Amino acid sequence: MHPRRKASIVASGTLGMKHSSFSTGRKNGKYTVFVVILFSVFLFFSFTYNEDVKSSAEHPFGGEVKSADVSREDFPVAEPIEMENHQATRSMETATGNEAEKETTTVVLPQEDDVTVVDVADAHGEPAKPERQRVLLDVPESCDLFTGRWVHDDVSYPVYKEQECQFLTEQVTCMRNGRRDDSYQKWRWQPRDCSLPRFDARLMLERLRGKRLMFVGDSLNRNQWESMVCLVQSVVPREKKTLTKNGSLNVFRIEEYNATVEFYWAPFLVESNSDDPTVHSILNRIIMPKSIGRHGRNWKNVDYLVFNTYIWWLNTPTMKVLRGSFGKGSTEYDEIDRPVAYRQVLSTWANWVQKNVDPNRTTVFFMSMSPNHIKSTDWDDPDGIKCALETQPVANLSHPLHVGTDWRLFAVAEEVISSSMRRVPASFVKITAMSEYRKDAHTSVHTLRQGKLLTAEQQADPATYADCIHWCLPGLPDTWNEFLFARIASSPWRDH
Ligand SMILES: *[C@@H]1O[C@H](CO)[C@@H](O)[C@H](O)[C@H]1NC(C)=O
Ligand SMILES: *[C@@H]1O[C@H](CO)[C@@H](O)[C@H](O)[C@H]1NC(C)=O
Ligand SMILES: *[C@@H]1O[C@H](CO)[C@@H](O)[C@H](O)[C@H]1NC(C)=O
Ligand SMILES: *[C@@H]1O[C@H](CO)[C@@H](O)[C@H](O)[C@H]1NC(C)=O
Repeated sequence: MHPRRKASIVASGTLGMKHSSFSTGRKNGKYTVFVVILFSVFLFFSFTYNEDVKSSAEHPFGGEVKSADVSREDFPVAEPIEMENHQATRSMETATGNEAEKETTTVVLPQEDDVTVVDVADAHGEPAKPERQRVLLDVPESCDLFTGRWVHDDVSYPVYKEQECQFLTEQVTCMRNGRRDDSYQKWRWQPRDCSLPRFDARLMLERLRGKRLMFVGDSLNRNQWESMVCLVQSVVPREKKTLTKNGSLNVFRIEEYNATVEFYWAPFLVESNSDDPTVHSILNRIIMPKSIGRHGRNWKNVDYLVFNTYIWWLNTPTMKVLRGSFGKGSTEYDEIDRPVAYRQVLSTWANWVQKNVDPNRTTVFFMSMSPNHIKSTDWDDPDGIKCALETQPVANLSHPLHVGTDWRLFAVAEEVISSSMRRVPASFVKITAMSEYRKDAHTSVHTLRQGKLLTAEQQADPATYADCIHWCLPGLPDTWNEFLFARIASSPWRDH
């Protein structure tokens, strides 16, 4: 084992509570009082992380909560299972040794002991290229991957080891940061009606050959990007992979595949005064819901785009929407109800995708909200302290979970994606309900605060310091990436 190198993406880490010069002229007295109360609530319950300011312990304005679509069973312990992709990987390696090998497509039925490998003709009738085999996973488009249950599985999970991924930031290395139990790493998501294939780095890299995969959004999407980097990097030699950070863009490059896995910081997708990746303020956040072009320039010619935006919306029930433009020095804003502003932003985003994305080249995903676990009474544990003492997923499925998720935003996203994305479709990845069960998977006190590891005293005070928003790695975001992998590796091969 090699000593863990500090990845270059560790940001300078200070949380800037940048003083806002924005006028408060639009507020009336009543609102000011409300703000003061909110601010006190914020100070009392919340704190800040690394680069992101986020978290309000209470979301009294959480909106309607939809009951989770998960089958109501307890969590059975998994039988050790043979993983389905091994055979596919073997046959690919065999093919690699044979220069004369024709390019073929192989269909692999996931999660069956007896794997069926079927060669099918290349759909495009392209001339055969040596050293490639096109594997196609069989995950039916019609299967709802998001309705299912968590199954304990310490045979096949985690997919990678914490100490073996040099690119993990200190924010998420929970074991290294003092967490004792590692069972949060050993859960497999079992959809009710089909199977979710285990992540296979070689198959994924074959799909990424000569391509770019980019995550765009907030710190939860960055959490998922770090997971994806670790998932794919294990099969790449140390000197053939690099991570570079340049402003809002982090690029992980895999040389021998000419592939990148990137993250672009844009917590609201549209322009906001929170777009600096290290210096930003949650309390004074103001958005320009119609302005996306400056960010969007950086998303062009990407082959797989994965968007999200949620956590920054939560702190207040309304969103500040700028009248005019930051560039022109505007300072006045309106206060818009959260779901209304969210719809404006997602409409702008959907229009950008329709105008700028070539559906013959690019696949677009939108991640639903990553839930928080702030109040232990939400899962019947009056003695808990936020998520800090949790070592198991929620097991009592006899009643719907209510952990404060704003399901109104889920409904907005679902509606925009289904109604306004005809030319270029987006795939809505519904991670919210399945993640609500994972109260055990947050970084809690085993993380950073303002760029520094929590001290022993801070760790002993989870009521103040536990982060019940972000997730340990390896962990839950690996499963989110298995959803992406399932869709990517089961879609027809195409050339651009
Ligand atoms: C490498 O990938 C980029 C896209 O990310 C592509 O434009 C370029 O042509 C590729 N280069 C080679 C040598 O395949
Ligand atoms: C960083 O990004 C800026 C703006 O996109 C670009 O002009 C510059 O060349 C980049 N720097 C490096 C070192 O890649
Ligand atoms: C996508 O490809 C098909 C078939 O080659 C072509 O007819 C169609 O115009 C293309 N669509 C776009 C938006 O370029
Ligand atoms: C599950 O939840 C129900 C309803 O809140 C409660 O009555 C029951 O005692 C719980 N069961 C367990 C095992 O905690």
